[in-house]
Amino acid sequence: MGLTALCPGTFDPVTNGHLDIIGRTSESFDSVVVGVLENPSKQPLFGLDERVAMLREACVGLLNVRVDSFTGLLVAYAKEQGADVIVKGLRAVTDYESEIQMAQMNHRLAGVETLFMPTNPKWSFLSSSLVKEVGKFGGDVTGLVPDAVRDRLRDRLEVSA
Ligand code: PNS
Repeated sequence: MGLTALCPGTFDPVTNGHLDIIGRTSESFDSVVVGVLENPSKQPLFGLDERVAMLREACVGLLNVRVDSFTGLLVAYAKEQGADVIVKGLRAVTDYESEIQMAQMNHRLAGVETLFMPTNPKWSFLSSSLVKEVGKFGGDVTGLVPDAVRDRLRDRLEVSA
């Protein structure tokens, strides 16, 4: 039995920064579960099924990666999936503050460890929120997200404009 890592997130939508972390995690662990959060109190731009579909398409070449969704506590999902660790990307010191709190809470709740992976500096400025904002005002997000995500974003923002 090998080691399983859990990469959780909202992924609204997935960016090349997320994919860099998922890809590098898949090289270091035997299997990876990408857990997409369904958060009933938030109103994401993309529904859960769309976020999962975009990730599945983007991860198609990563044979040890499975994309799934969860709701509720991350640690409960980690236990359910038999994950050994949670892996999170850290872009900059600004991420650290909230990430360390979540990591310590998750450890306190269920003894689940979190490993931080430094984001490739190429993507340290990148976030789903920024991609949506740039897209909303007609900016080009090519190269920041998979082309299929860029196209869906364009369609979605045209529809809601
Ligand atoms: O991509 P995001 O929005 O930064 O991901 C945040 C996520 C999904 C990892 C976090 O919100 C989470 O774990 N949510 C599940 C609810 C939970 O367990 N909350 C307590 C965390 S200490």
